[in-house]
Amino acid sequence: MSGPPAPAERAIHVTEVGPRDGLQNENVVIPTHAKLAFIHGLVDAGVRQIEITSFVHPRWVPMMADAEEVFAGLERRPGVRYLALVPNVRGYERARAAGCDAVALFTAASEAFTKMNINATIDESLETFAAVAKRAHADGVAVRGYVSTVYACPFAGAIAPEAVIDVVERLFDLGCYEVSLGDTIGVATPSEVRRVVDVLGARFPLDRLVMHFHDTWGMAVANVAQSVELGLRRFDSSAGGLGGCPYARSATGNVATEDLLYLLDHLGYETGIDIDTVVAAAEGLARHLAHPLPSRVHKAWKGRVI
Ligand code: HMG
Ligand code: MG
Repeated sequence: MSGPPAPAERAIHVTEVGPRDGLQNENVVIPTHAKLAFIHGLVDAGVRQIEITSFVHPRWVPMMADAEEVFAGLERRPGVRYLALVPNVRGYERARAAGCDAVALFTAASEAFTKMNINATIDESLETFAAVAKRAHADGVAVRGYVSTVYACPFAGAIAPEAVIDVVERLFDLGCYEVSLGDTIGVATPSEVRRVVDVLGARFPLDRLVMHFHDTWGMAVANVAQSVELGLRRFDSSAGGLGGCPYARSATGNVATEDLLYLLDHLGYETGIDIDTVVAAAEGLARHLAHPLPSRVHKAWKGRVI
């Protein structure tokens, strides 16, 4: 690692995905009021972009079946972007009717994963998203993009970074303001991160690429450290370290927001997010879960003596 970052390079943009990616795989019923308390607590902590639910088919992801109720109970704060994941025009229409003004589209670098996840080929998914993006732009709705399986696919194995370029480009062509690169099953290590950043950074501005690490193999924090060193400034994370994908059984939680903040703070970066308030929000949610929160920093923070 080189020295501390220069002032102009210190700002890091964190997108909190806990209420969507964090919760979509839980198999106990979490009441909508508990999801809303979690969302409001995270915004109180200083989060300025947060993915609060998804308008997918409730049979495919039952935990997100209350997407309309989540929006109905939302107390919006100025300056905060509240995103919802949408898989198609039907999802977009539901999101709009609920009052959503920022959507995330999601496809993958692997055909096998896209088929399992949204029952479409990559081309079909991008055709669908072209229709969604057209509607969104006409409505003044912001559009974010995700590419899953950037490093590896649970069905097809390793993915070459070169195979990711085309789908990232097509999402930017649809007008996405940023594209999040998913290590869906959490297998990446810093050397692979470097390869991905070398290849994609040569084609796209780094400040429009987001790193989305899952922590299955415990490398997520190392991957964040490598990414910031390479000039990336945008990260997705999930409070408490919750997460997983129902269509990638080998995936566990996202990098925990607590772990991300602890690392970045110690490296001299600024997120504008207060870790105590994140810990409290995750703690409140944890009362509704059937297991402890995975985040190491969350546990250590509560028991800290210094
Ligand atoms: P399908 O069965 O192919 O859908 O599912 P369809 O278009 O054939 O329609 C079948 C029925 O579903 C119809 O109803 C539609 O109206 C209805 P019917 O006429 O039979 O009564 N339908 C819907 N209902 C509610 N909301 C909708 C909707 N769309 C259709 N939006 C579909 C296709 C995309 C809907 C399904 O595959 C789906 O919902 N998939 C969601 C998968 C998902 O949420 N995965 C997790 C998120 S991705 C992720 O976690 C990765 C990420 O974090 C990044 C990373 O880590 O890599 C983002
Ligand atoms: Mg994810």
